[in-house]
Amino acid sequence: MSTLSATQTDWLNRGQSVLMNTYKQFPVALSHGEGCYLWDVNGKKYLDFVSGIAVNCLGYGHPALTEKLSEQAAKLLHCSNLYWNTPQVELAEMLTSVSAFSRVFFCNSGAEAVEAALKLARKASQVKYGQNRSTVIAMENSFHGRTYGAMSLTGQSKYHAGYAPLVSEIVHVPFNNLEALQAQLTEHVCAILVEPIQGEGGVQPADPQYLKALRAICDERDILLIFDEVQSGIGRTGKLFAYEWSGVAPDIITLAKGLGGGFPIGAMLANEKAAPYFQPGDHASTFGGNPMACMAGKTVLSVLLEEDLLSNVMAQGTYLAQKLAALKALYPEKIQEVRGMKLMQGIELNQSVAPVIDACLERGLLLVGAGPNVIRFVPPLIVQTEQIDEAMHILADVLAAME
Ligand SMILES: Cc1ncc(COP(=O)(O)O)c(C=O)c1O
Repeated sequence: MSTLSATQTDWLNRGQSVLMNTYKQFPVALSHGEGCYLWDVNGKKYLDFVSGIAVNCLGYGHPALTEKLSEQAAKLLHCSNLYWNTPQVELAEMLTSVSAFSRVFFCNSGAEAVEAALKLARKASQVKYGQNRSTVIAMENSFHGRTYGAMSLTGQSKYHAGYAPLVSEIVHVPFNNLEALQAQLTEHVCAILVEPIQGEGGVQPADPQYLKALRAICDERDILLIFDEVQSGIGRTGKLFAYEWSGVAPDIITLAKGLGGGFPIGAMLANEKAAPYFQPGDHASTFGGNPMACMAGKTVLSVLLEEDLLSNVMAQGTYLAQKLAALKALYPEKIQEVRGMKLMQGIELNQSVAPVIDACLERGLLLVGAGPNVIRFVPPLIVQTEQIDEAMHILADVLAAME
């Protein structure tokens, strides 16, 4: 790429020679960030509408997060779950006090939270009903992570290629289609797993009526309802959890991404119908509930709730959706649909998104795809109107220049 100096090229070459070749990466090596902006090692500035894929909810260099993590690093970096640590207890108290759940299991990533949910759901069912009730219904086009259980639950065959045999007793049904789900409801089903808004699968919100119907089915048949809110949770949709929009509370929820604001943490929360089935020895993680990660989580939740960042998500999310709708009106032949919830928006293009994302990157705007034809907009939750205008200006220019 012509804009690369020796410095950046050097980092890319060094990375390519020693790192596993698992990522399709942009030719950019990032150096630091501030607010909603990032700089690469050459000093080029980018407006970030990716946020580490819905992770850096407080942006970069947020003073509260920097201060609290520095303090915690000096105090206690890690402690085994053989012992209690105070940030872990406090974060669990915070999470349970603002949600429909009574207990928390901490881990390090979204996939691990999904694994924990799968294990808890099967354990609960086996204790209550015996071995022959372990089927999980998951959704087509869903994404739940790359470990074996989470990958098997993921309803996209491209993520399964080369990895057979997958975890068994998992069936996939079309998203938002009640009839198709009912056709799979046998006496072997122990859980239904759904994202209240599919992220990776193209930014597709679940119909609230569909979620209500799932809740009713689960109550009637004593099936556990699991919501994967790894991407949609922690304020992204304007409420702390996306499930709040539907008025439907699941029995189990998975969280990660935004929870640590950039520090790795995952969590699986459950209500009293499910949580008591995990007993000492049933599940564990060396780093799960690490004091640094939990301090990050505590700080993110404090900023979100006490500084009323959710109001900003509501206002800016509405503004972003309006701006994208205006862009669609301007380019109806290029943009097929705008959809999403507040600061989790997507536009479906009539073409591959790759050249659009590349051109935006060149112009200093970071965007990420969600499937081949959808561009996802997941800026930091601190984003302001001026930055949305700046992003829309770049995107409009790029779309105008496209064939
Ligand atoms: C809904 C959902 N679940 C699970 C995951 C997996 O999370 P992680 O990459 O932290 O394992 C993701 C990641 O994109 C996700 O969007």
